[in-house]
Amino acid sequence: MCKRFASAIIPLLWRAQEQEGWLSRPAIEHVADMLGMAYIRALEVATFYFMFQLQPVGSVAHIQICGTTSCMICGAEDLVAVCKELISKQPHTLSADGKFSWEEVECMGACANAPMAQIGKDYYEDLTPDKLRELIGRFSRGEVPVPGPQNGRYASEPASGLTSLKEFESGRKQYNASAQAAVDLKDTVKRIDGTEVPLATPWLGVAARPVKVKAEPNSAARPVPTPKVDAAPVAAGAGTKPKALKAARNGKADDLKLILGIGPKLEALCHSLGFFHFDQIADWTEAEVAWVDENLEGFKGRVTRDKWVVQAKILAAGGSVEAAEAAARG
Ligand code: FES
Repeated sequence: MCKRFASAIIPLLWRAQEQEGWLSRPAIEHVADMLGMAYIRALEVATFYFMFQLQPVGSVAHIQICGTTSCMICGAEDLVAVCKELISKQPHTLSADGKFSWEEVECMGACANAPMAQIGKDYYEDLTPDKLRELIGRFSRGEVPVPGPQNGRYASEPASGLTSLKEFESGRKQYNASAQAAVDLKDTVKRIDGTEVPLATPWLGVAARPVKVKAEPNSAARPVPTPKVDAAPVAAGAGTKPKALKAARNGKADDLKLILGIGPKLEALCHSLGFFHFDQIADWTEAEVAWVDENLEGFKGRVTRDKWVVQAKILAAGGSVEAAEAAARG
């Protein structure tokens, strides 16, 4: 697995969760497939962070009440009582109308505005039981209340008002930066269904559509598949095709991922083109580099950009990965 691919695990799981508010097993496995990761690695991430829900949540919102020290001292238990009364006696259980679910979570870093809750993607702070009741009622009616402090505070200044930096008070926006961003983005409790504007992937030279992950709870276990790579078309007239092999020598390919810039997909693509070894790449001429650059569908120009030949020469001669990477960067 390429570590650089793995770093996309959290945003991709989050994107998957945006669809139905929770992550089904097929969704987690699909994301793992996209990144060439073992399912267990993706599951480890999904189970570690409480931002990821592993069972169905309310169709409108899942409410996370912070129950850690500051919030507890300032009344989190009363907020939990409201959730038990209006949503369900037990956490992680749908309300009778299916619109809400709730849970108590650890500190969410808004302690100066305790007690608080995360509803959808936003923080609602300085809450009281009545305020939370009102918020749940408004969400239930399809409204999206402005996030941030709910007691009139602008941000986390003293409740009695600013004591310093007062000169900036007059020029500020209507809401603090976080609340303003939430209002501007209109993300809040919104769910996605795959019909949104396609995600831009300029590094691929195309605007790719997001992959729609269909939730299918309780699916049977599946074996770990090999990441799929589309067959590489051969472009006409671009350079000279290097000598290719039908298979790796002695059945053992070099780990091409040691070349900075090559991940599992690119490695599989190289294999499909007949390139398995560092010494093959190290021998490419300028015309051959041009051909490969042109025929790395979805990754055009990577050979030149990441100096594969320079790196491959070092690795083929027994040099270290660090030396190869330094050569690529230098
Ligand atoms: S204690 Fe509740 S946000 Fe930190």
